[in-house]
Amino acid sequence: MEQRIAVLVTAVVGSLLIALFAAVARSAGTAGSADSIAAAAARWRRTTLWGLVLLFVPTIGYSLTKMPYSSGDEAAAVVVSATGHQWAWEVTPASVPAGRLVEIRVTGADVNHGFGVYDTHDRLVTQAQAMPGFTNVIRYTFRTPGTYRILCLEYCGLGHHTMSSQLVVTAAK
Ligand code: CUA
Repeated sequence: MEQRIAVLVTAVVGSLLIALFAAVARSAGTAGSADSIAAAAARWRRTTLWGLVLLFVPTIGYSLTKMPYSSGDEAAAVVVSATGHQWAWEVTPASVPAGRLVEIRVTGADVNHGFGVYDTHDRLVTQAQAMPGFTNVIRYTFRTPGTYRILCLEYCGLGHHTMSSQLVVTAAK
C-alpha cells in the first residue's frame, strides 16, 4: 500500500516537473519588457506559493491521522518476559493469544543479545535489543496463530546460533 502511494506520488511530481520544463523551454524565446517579465514572475511565485500551501496543508493534516504509533495507553492482554542468556532464551509465558495486544519485556542476563521473532514463513515480525540492565518493551499484536521462532540477532559468543526458542500464538477465542 505505502509503496503504491510512493509510486503514485513520484509519478505525479515527475509529470509536474516535466510540464514545468516544457513550459520553460516553450517560453525561452519570448521577448518582453523587464517590467512585464518581473510582474509575470511575481504572479507565478504567488500562484505557486498558494498552490503549495493548498497542496501541503491538507496532505500533512491527513498524514497526521495515519501516525504509525499507538498512543501506548492501551492495556496489554498478556505481558511476556523475555531474557537472553548465553545461550538460551527464557520466555514466559511462551504462549499468547492472536488478535490481542502483547507486551514483551526484553532484557539480557549477561551480554547483549538480539531478540527476534519470526512468523511461520520465517519473516521477522518484531525485534528488540536484549541488554543487561535495561528492559526494552515491544508492544505487538500477533494476527496469525502458529508457532513463531525466536532467534538471537546479535553475535553473543560461541553458542549464538543455538539461541532458538518458540512463541506459540493461539487462535483468538
Ligand atoms: Cu544471543 Cu546471539
